[in-house]
Amino acid sequence: MSTTWKTPSRRRVLKALAASVVLLPQVSLSAIKRLLPANKASRDFIEHNDLPLALETRRSAYGQGPITAISQFFVRNNLPMPEAEIVADPDRWTVSIEGAERSKTFSLAELKALPTTTIGSVLQCSGNGRAFFAHSPSGSPWGVGAAGCALWTGVKLSTVFEHIGGVQSEARFITATGGEPLPQGIEPSAVAVERSVPIDKGLDDCLLVWEMNGEPLPLVHGGPLRLLVPGYFGVNNVKWVRRVEASSDESSNKIQQSGYRMRALGERGNASHPSMYRMPVKSWLNGPGASGEALAPGTHQLFGVAFSGERGIDHVDVSTDGGSSWQRASLYGPDLGPNAWRTFSIEADLSEGEYLLVSKATDSAGDSQPEYFPANHRGYGHNGWRDHALAVEVVGNAVSAKRPVVSPVDMGVTVAASVSAKHVGKTNQEDSLGKRLFVETASPPCGVCHSLEAAGARGVIGPNLDELRPDARRIRTAIAQGVGAMPAYAEQLTDREVNALVAFITSTQ
Ligand code: HEC
Repeated sequence: MSTTWKTPSRRRVLKALAASVVLLPQVSLSAIKRLLPANKASRDFIEHNDLPLALETRRSAYGQGPITAISQFFVRNNLPMPEAEIVADPDRWTVSIEGAERSKTFSLAELKALPTTTIGSVLQCSGNGRAFFAHSPSGSPWGVGAAGCALWTGVKLSTVFEHIGGVQSEARFITATGGEPLPQGIEPSAVAVERSVPIDKGLDDCLLVWEMNGEPLPLVHGGPLRLLVPGYFGVNNVKWVRRVEASSDESSNKIQQSGYRMRALGERGNASHPSMYRMPVKSWLNGPGASGEALAPGTHQLFGVAFSGERGIDHVDVSTDGGSSWQRASLYGPDLGPNAWRTFSIEADLSEGEYLLVSKATDSAGDSQPEYFPANHRGYGHNGWRDHALAVEVVGNAVSAKRPVVSPVDMGVTVAASVSAKHVGKTNQEDSLGKRLFVETASPPCGVCHSLEAAGARGVIGPNLDELRPDARRIRTAIAQGVGAMPAYAEQLTDREVNALVAFITSTQ
């Protein structure tokens, strides 16, 4: 094969591109806005990112029932979504099932002909609660709302494998690959969403699902077809699933090998760190008072949700005095299984004053939420009860008394916006070095993935930096360590180059 490309890495990238990569069209900013799902009511969400889409359900939007409606369900994508046309005729979607005695590509219509099942299960982002960590980890600063509980309908993975002779004997993992279009010019394994879970989990519990709360699975939630790994953190529940393999090894992709690993502050992820799998016991109160409104003195039904991956909830205790004294709450509503959340409530007589309302759940194995959850590098897995407190004020004239309450999440956004003041004192020379790195000389250049008007960049893999307006600290951290699909540049860029990039990006704000 003759090629004009000289470096082997370039050739490898191109070969991989030719094999599997769909080139992304250049998307204009107005088109990005149109990618936002139409069925989401914006007042019920905190929008952390439009690319990749990150919408957090407001605490006040959960309601009291055990099921989170699709219109209120959080969204977290790792990459831009596939085109909406894939849900126009869902039955034509195909998924190849590999590592079986007789591997086969199934259409969704064929999967629907196999025995069907429905389960209740919580989906929760690994970074839910990240806003409560003091060290401001990279990534969306989720409060409580990167979680929801839905009814999922589909077919058990074990049924699919049995249909084609069962898994091959050397299989140790179930590895699922998402159907997102991949960015041009980047090694697919660095960004493609592909996750592995232990084979026993895959065959005992996992489903391929095409309905959510009785509706065809919407595009933003991975429709027409996604993997459901009940009780495991969100990233494992691969959306737009294209391929499921009973594999002898874990995926070699970055998102599996180093991403989504629990590790100490300052440590880079590697395969020796625990993967974000089972969700530990957690609970929080959703009201009343979650939107910051003051309450009137008198009797109130405090309500919230509690869950623990694979285990279900034994009991929930609630405190109205920040954890000094506790009372047992009642679990109400249906028990939708060990991976769904339980709704709980307790009556509280509240006179005028300020209250810190907290809940602490205990699961069927006897594990309780800790009071504090240790800081970890990416801000994963927070289930400490104290940080999840709901602060309310009870005042005599509650109707007219509107407290200017700022939730931790809103606060994060405000702080980030206010410190991203215009960079002053830069030299034009440093500025142009920063711009060159951004559009051209960093490898890969930032502009491949990010939009930034001053650089003429229109990448659509990562956040639009004109909208995100990251402050210097956030830019430095992202460059040094990488975040999500973004690679780390620590070993590639000199201090001067990093400074130039930071100066350039902040000067555009
Ligand atoms: C391969 C695509 C890609 C490249 C190349 C890339 N980024 Fe990113 N970047 C992303 C994605 C995706 C995110 C969002 C990650 C997430 O939230 O999951 C991101 C996030 C960020 C953030 C926000 C971090 C935070 O705290 O949330 C900053 C700042 C940033 N990138 C700057 C840069 C700079 C500067 C460069 C070039 C040196 C660069 N990126 C190169 C994909 C990329």
